[in-house]
Amino acid sequence: MLILRTLDDLRLWRRSIPLSASVGFAPTMGALHAGHMKLVEECRRENSITVVSIFVNPLQFGPNEDLARYPRPFEKDAALCEAAGVDAIYAPEPADFYAPDHATFVDVHGLDRHLCGAARPGHFRGVCTVVLKLFHAVRPHRAYFGKKDIQQALILKRMVSDLAVDVDMRLVDTVREPSGLALSSRNAYLTPDERARAIALNRGLSRARDAFANGERTANALIRIVQMEIETSEPTRIDYIEAVSQSKLEPIDKIEVPAVIAVAVFYGKTRLIDNVTLEKS
Ligand code: PAJ
Repeated sequence: MLILRTLDDLRLWRRSIPLSASVGFAPTMGALHAGHMKLVEECRRENSITVVSIFVNPLQFGPNEDLARYPRPFEKDAALCEAAGVDAIYAPEPADFYAPDHATFVDVHGLDRHLCGAARPGHFRGVCTVVLKLFHAVRPHRAYFGKKDIQQALILKRMVSDLAVDVDMRLVDTVREPSGLALSSRNAYLTPDERARAIALNRGLSRARDAFANGERTANALIRIVQMEIETSEPTRIDYIEAVSQSKLEPIDKIEVPAVIAVAVFYGKTRLIDNVTLEKS
């Protein structure tokens, strides 16, 4: 497995890949867990070459967020990738990736108004900018993203479609612990007690999904189900519980189009997100 540290090295290697090969790409910020590895597994299944990027992208962190303390267990990540059959890791230093006078950004307007976009101004601009730049450097045929970060996945899909980026966007189901807690690099911040309480996110969302399956179509009623469940877990703060359409990521009153109920909740200082997608049966 190759470990590429600079854009130049990545480009040079990419040019050596024969045209007949298919290149799959899973961008990550490292601290890899079984959720990331599911993306890698899908990527390996569908492509002849698998590239993983590990880059804690400063552009997508707000001034009071966890950029400095975000976990960076590179050796462990590299070993996981190696064992999973990854062909190359691209792990640049921020200084090699962004010039000091970097001035170009990608904004997907509107889709970042609600959910995490409202709570984290500039976050999706940072995500879109890094992903488009990574796409240009890696030039993948297919790229893999988790439904765990549903707003990110839908915004990136829109970016790719609006800007005619020639990458097939593949969305992968959320990998969960047996308890139902969605795997996340940020789970490492949780105390055992917070971790046990955080199970309420999936419990609430699952109850809402069941109610939807039984015919409940009123967004507020579904939101209330999630809220009641989460409140029993004594969260430090509920950031949002929202029902939005998948196309515009705008709040809806009735679930009559493909929709998503998404939540962001703090336990202690740790902000966790989760969601359930609702499609008409
Ligand atoms: P990161 O949080 O490391 O996640 C990398 C990818 O793994 C994302 O597509 C995310 O949705 C997916 N993922 C995380 N947890 C998952 C789970 N439990 N099940 C399935 N997939 C999961 O998301 C980012 O990094 C960054 O924003 C990035 C896209 C790399 C841009 O910097």
